[in-house]
Amino acid sequence: MLRHLIVPNHEVESVLDILRENGWLASGMRIFPSEEGDRRLVPLDILAPATLPPPLETFDIAHREGLEDDRIASDWLNHLSLLVDQDVLDENREEWPSSHEFIGDMMIVRIEDEISEFAMQIAEAKLRSHPHVRLVLSDEGVQGELRIRKLTPIGARVDGAVVTTDIPTSASSTRVLVREAGRSIACDPNRAYFSTKLQTERMETLALSKELAELLGRPIRVCDPFCGVGPALSALLAESGLVADAMASDLNPDAIELLIYNLSRWDRRDYPPHPAPIARIFDDRVVGVADATEISRDPSFSGRWDLLLVNLPHRTIDILPSLIPLLDMSSPSMVRGRAIVAESEIESANLRIKEALPPILEGTPLPSLRIKRDYSSTLRLCSFEAWIAPISQKR
Ligand SMILES: C[S@@+](CC[C@H](N)C(=O)[O-])C[C@H]1O[C@@H](n2cnc3c(N)ncnc32)[C@H](O)[C@@H]1O
Repeated sequence: MLRHLIVPNHEVESVLDILRENGWLASGMRIFPSEEGDRRLVPLDILAPATLPPPLETFDIAHREGLEDDRIASDWLNHLSLLVDQDVLDENREEWPSSHEFIGDMMIVRIEDEISEFAMQIAEAKLRSHPHVRLVLSDEGVQGELRIRKLTPIGARVDGAVVTTDIPTSASSTRVLVREAGRSIACDPNRAYFSTKLQTERMETLALSKELAELLGRPIRVCDPFCGVGPALSALLAESGLVADAMASDLNPDAIELLIYNLSRWDRRDYPPHPAPIARIFDDRVVGVADATEISRDPSFSGRWDLLLVNLPHRTIDILPSLIPLLDMSSPSMVRGRAIVAESEIESANLRIKEALPPILEGTPLPSLRIKRDYSSTLRLCSFEAWIAPISQKR
């Protein structure tokens, strides 16, 4: 997802001048019209500040899938056509990977089995058409309980030259800093789950957190027991006065190592350098390795949190009952989750979520899965939020 500035048509040229001058225009991405046609969506570079200065601050921001500039898309195919025979190009017309994900200066490409023998040529063509990319990785999907992607380097830029064989280890590091909403997040998709595609989700969570804080009339206590390297917390902690206390834990020690590095920079405090079992590190931070389903057994961590983030989409609904004791039931609270569900089973999944949760806060909608994108031909990646009533309030 990419931030786009929504600009009335007559102001586009002057806005473009300012963005170009500051290097805040996303390179290689297209400007496109709004649905009504009266405004343009201008793609912002990931390094553009979270809060843009005047006069740009008056324009709304939309988080949208960026559209690649066709000239660049066709440019990559032009490069490919110099490396692959025309008949091979034509035979596999539908398979060549036109889309990709950028994580920092890395490009992640999914290559279908039919064209896997051309991985080197694909990497070279992508590197030649995207001069800012350092490393191209082939994505073989997310694996195992820790949801780590299997990524294989297939091309790199080494001292300005494009290399697709014997890629030196120094060029194939997958540890990068990603800019998101004005903050940098250290991640290493080879060691811990991270996806840039969840940025809109995180912005929605931020908006809901602010609503919760407003309802409670105080900063909130946030529990993120599947935190990964901490991108959800990044957005919340960046908002001054929003978070009173945060728990960030994960089963993957590598994720916690990166999280600790991130928290040390965001909080400007020294954290213990190595991942350790979950513990209170500061008055306002609980951090460490833990199986989320077991955390609430520790009385010092249960019954304490206003916002519970549940981001383990394959298991969210099954796992919910073991997490609910983490919530502070003396005041309204919120559960925000993501789940992968067959489209035909969304209604029954909504019922299961409702049954797994305590009574819903009066006057708030029942939790209901919203489809965010396709996960497979039948499965959908969905998200939901539930406002939970304090224990004294009847259903
Ligand atoms: C889909 S990822 C989400 C990570 C992070 N919240 C994000 O948005 O980038 C799910 C995370 O849950 C962790 N995980 C899997 N099973 C777990 C468990 N039983 N307890 C705690 N964490 C778990 C994985 O290591 C992974 O980091």
